[in-house]
Amino acid sequence: MKHLAKSLFTILIFGTYDASLKAETPQLNYLRYCQGCHGDAGQGSARNSVPELKEAITKFLVHPEGRDYLVQVADVSQSPIVDQELADLLNWMIRRFGTKEIQEKFAPYKASEISEPRLNRPANTRELRKKLTGKSIHSTMSD
Ligand code: HEC
Repeated sequence: MKHLAKSLFTILIFGTYDASLKAETPQLNYLRYCQGCHGDAGQGSARNSVPELKEAITKFLVHPEGRDYLVQVADVSQSPIVDQELADLLNWMIRRFGTKEIQEKFAPYKASEISEPRLNRPANTRELRKKLTGKSIHSTMSD
Protein backbone atom coordinates (compact mmCIF):
# COMPACT_ATOMS: atom_id res chain seq x y z
CA MET A 1 0.00 0.00 0.00
CA LYS A 2 2.84 2.30 0.94
CA HIS A 3 4.61 1.36 -2.31
CA LEU A 4 1.50 2.05 -4.40
CA ALA A 5 1.01 5.43 -2.77
CA LYS A 6 4.63 6.30 -3.56
CA SER A 7 4.23 5.31 -7.24
CA LEU A 8 1.03 7.27 -7.61
CA PHE A 9 2.71 10.27 -6.04
CA THR A 10 5.63 9.99 -8.50
CA ILE A 11 3.30 9.75 -11.49
CA LEU A 12 1.30 12.69 -10.27
CA ILE A 13 4.34 14.89 -9.70
CA PHE A 14 6.29 13.97 -12.83
CA GLY A 15 3.16 13.74 -14.98
CA THR A 16 2.36 17.31 -14.03
CA TYR A 17 5.89 18.55 -14.63
CA ASP A 18 6.03 16.83 -18.00
CA ALA A 19 2.86 18.44 -19.30
CA SER A 20 3.76 21.95 -18.22
CA LEU A 21 7.44 21.87 -19.20
CA LYS A 22 7.30 20.71 -22.79
CA ALA A 23 6.17 24.09 -24.04
CA GLU A 24 8.54 26.11 -21.86
CA THR A 25 12.28 25.49 -22.29
CA PRO A 26 13.48 28.29 -19.97
CA GLN A 27 11.25 26.86 -17.27
CA LEU A 28 12.81 23.43 -17.78
CA ASN A 29 16.31 24.94 -17.66
CA TYR A 30 15.39 26.76 -14.45
CA LEU A 31 14.16 23.49 -12.97
CA ARG A 32 17.31 21.65 -14.04
CA TYR A 33 20.00 24.17 -13.24
CA CYS A 34 18.63 26.69 -10.74
CA GLN A 35 15.67 25.49 -8.74
CA GLY A 36 17.65 23.13 -6.53
CA CYS A 37 19.22 26.14 -4.82
CA HIS A 38 16.87 29.04 -5.58
CA GLY A 39 13.57 27.21 -5.03
CA ASP A 40 10.40 26.94 -7.12
CA ALA A 41 9.31 30.46 -6.22
CA GLY A 42 12.83 31.95 -6.35
CA GLN A 43 12.75 32.20 -2.57
CA GLY A 44 16.37 31.06 -2.08
CA SER A 45 17.57 29.71 1.22
CA ALA A 46 18.74 32.02 3.99
CA ARG A 47 20.32 29.06 5.79
CA ASN A 48 22.62 28.43 2.80
CA SER A 49 23.19 32.07 1.79
CA VAL A 50 21.21 31.66 -1.45
CA PRO A 51 19.58 35.04 -2.16
CA GLU A 52 15.93 35.53 -3.00
CA LEU A 53 15.69 36.19 -6.74
CA LYS A 54 12.95 38.82 -6.59
CA GLU A 55 15.11 41.05 -4.45
CA ALA A 56 18.21 40.32 -6.57
CA ILE A 57 16.47 41.18 -9.82
CA THR A 58 15.14 44.45 -8.51
CA LYS A 59 18.41 45.52 -6.91
CA PHE A 60 20.70 44.76 -9.82
CA LEU A 61 18.67 45.68 -12.87
CA VAL A 62 18.62 49.33 -11.87
CA HIS A 63 22.43 49.49 -12.41
CA PRO A 64 23.94 49.08 -15.90
CA GLU A 65 26.71 47.04 -14.27
CA GLY A 66 24.09 45.06 -12.39
CA ARG A 67 22.61 43.90 -15.67
CA ASP A 68 25.99 42.34 -16.47
CA TYR A 69 26.37 41.06 -12.90
CA LEU A 70 23.25 38.89 -13.25
CA VAL A 71 24.99 37.16 -16.17
CA GLN A 72 28.32 36.93 -14.34
CA VAL A 73 27.29 35.25 -11.10
CA ALA A 74 29.11 31.91 -11.19
CA ASP A 75 26.04 29.71 -11.18
CA VAL A 76 24.51 31.67 -14.04
CA SER A 77 27.53 32.16 -16.32
CA GLN A 78 28.77 28.58 -15.86
CA SER A 79 25.41 26.92 -16.45
CA PRO A 80 25.73 24.38 -19.27
CA ILE A 81 23.47 26.18 -21.76
CA VAL A 82 24.27 28.39 -24.77
CA ASP A 83 23.96 32.20 -24.75
CA GLN A 84 20.51 32.26 -26.38
CA GLU A 85 19.15 29.78 -23.84
CA LEU A 86 20.72 31.75 -21.01
CA ALA A 87 19.15 34.99 -22.31
CA ASP A 88 15.78 33.19 -22.51
CA LEU A 89 16.24 31.83 -19.00
CA LEU A 90 17.09 35.23 -17.50
CA ASN A 91 14.16 36.85 -19.33
CA TRP A 92 11.85 34.11 -18.08
CA MET A 93 13.21 34.49 -14.55
CA ILE A 94 12.66 38.26 -14.60
CA ARG A 95 9.09 37.89 -15.90
CA ARG A 96 8.39 35.17 -13.34
CA PHE A 97 10.03 36.65 -10.25
CA GLY A 98 10.56 40.36 -10.94
CA THR A 99 8.40 43.11 -9.46
CA LYS A 100 5.72 44.69 -11.68
CA GLU A 101 7.78 47.85 -11.98
CA ILE A 102 10.87 45.98 -13.18
CA GLN A 103 8.78 44.01 -15.66
CA GLU A 104 7.44 47.23 -17.19
CA LYS A 105 10.87 48.88 -17.52
CA PHE A 106 13.03 45.89 -18.34
CA ALA A 107 14.38 45.41 -21.89
CA PRO A 108 14.84 41.67 -22.40
CA TYR A 109 18.40 40.33 -22.68
CA LYS A 110 19.54 39.50 -26.19
CA ALA A 111 21.97 36.60 -26.73
CA SER A 112 24.55 39.15 -27.96
CA GLU A 113 24.51 40.81 -24.51
CA ILE A 114 25.33 37.54 -22.79
CA SER A 115 28.57 36.42 -24.43
CA GLU A 116 30.76 39.41 -23.53
CA PRO A 117 30.03 39.62 -19.76
CA ARG A 118 29.92 35.85 -19.59
CA LEU A 119 33.44 35.54 -21.01
CA ASN A 120 34.82 38.47 -19.03
CA ARG A 121 33.74 37.73 -15.50
CA PRO A 122 35.41 39.79 -12.78
CA ALA A 123 37.73 37.66 -10.66
CA ASN A 124 35.58 38.32 -7.63
CA THR A 125 31.86 38.64 -8.32
CA ARG A 126 31.14 38.92 -4.61
CA GLU A 127 33.22 42.11 -4.47
CA LEU A 128 31.29 43.48 -7.46
CA ARG A 129 28.05 42.61 -5.69
CA LYS A 130 29.22 44.48 -2.63
CA LYS A 131 30.16 47.49 -4.75
CA LEU A 132 26.74 47.59 -6.41
CA THR A 133 24.63 47.07 -3.32
CA GLY A 134 26.93 48.11 -0.50
CA LYS A 135 26.30 44.71 1.05
CA SER A 136 28.05 41.39 1.14
CA ILE A 137 26.16 38.25 0.28
CA HIS A 138 26.00 37.18 3.91
CA SER A 139 24.76 40.49 5.29
CA THR A 140 21.68 40.46 3.02
CA MET A 141 20.52 37.25 4.60
CA SER A 142 19.71 38.85 7.91
CA ASP A 143 18.34 42.16 6.55
C1 HEC B 1 24.50 25.41 -6.03
C2 HEC B 1 23.46 26.39 -5.76
C3 HEC B 1 23.05 27.34 -6.84
C4 HEC B 1 22.59 27.04 -8.11
C5 HEC B 1 22.45 25.67 -8.76
C6 HEC B 1 22.24 28.31 -8.73
N1 HEC B 1 22.48 29.34 -7.86
FE1 HEC B 1 22.19 31.30 -8.23
N2 HEC B 1 23.14 31.79 -6.52
C7 HEC B 1 23.57 30.88 -5.57
C8 HEC B 1 24.29 31.62 -4.52
C9 HEC B 1 24.91 31.01 -3.26
C10 HEC B 1 24.28 32.97 -4.91
C11 HEC B 1 24.90 34.16 -4.17
C12 HEC B 1 26.06 34.75 -4.95
C13 HEC B 1 27.37 34.13 -4.64
O1 HEC B 1 27.46 33.24 -3.77
O2 HEC B 1 28.35 34.54 -5.29
C14 HEC B 1 23.53 33.03 -6.16
C15 HEC B 1 23.28 34.20 -6.84
C16 HEC B 1 22.44 34.31 -7.93
C17 HEC B 1 22.00 35.56 -8.51
C18 HEC B 1 22.42 36.95 -8.05
C19 HEC B 1 21.73 37.27 -6.78
C20 HEC B 1 22.49 38.13 -5.80
O3 HEC B 1 21.80 38.66 -4.90
O4 HEC B 1 23.72 38.28 -5.87
C21 HEC B 1 21.18 35.24 -9.54
C22 HEC B 1 20.44 36.22 -10.46
C23 HEC B 1 21.14 33.81 -9.64
N3 HEC B 1 21.92 33.27 -8.64
C24 HEC B 1 20.43 33.10 -10.57
C25 HEC B 1 20.63 31.74 -10.80
C26 HEC B 1 20.19 31.05 -11.98
C27 HEC B 1 19.44 31.70 -13.14
C28 HEC B 1 20.59 29.75 -11.85
C29 HEC B 1 20.44 28.65 -12.83
C30 HEC B 1 21.05 28.84 -14.14
C31 HEC B 1 21.25 29.63 -10.56
N4 HEC B 1 21.28 30.86 -9.97
C32 HEC B 1 21.75 28.44 -10.03
C33 HEC B 1 23.37 29.52 -5.59
C34 HEC B 1 22.97 28.79 -6.70
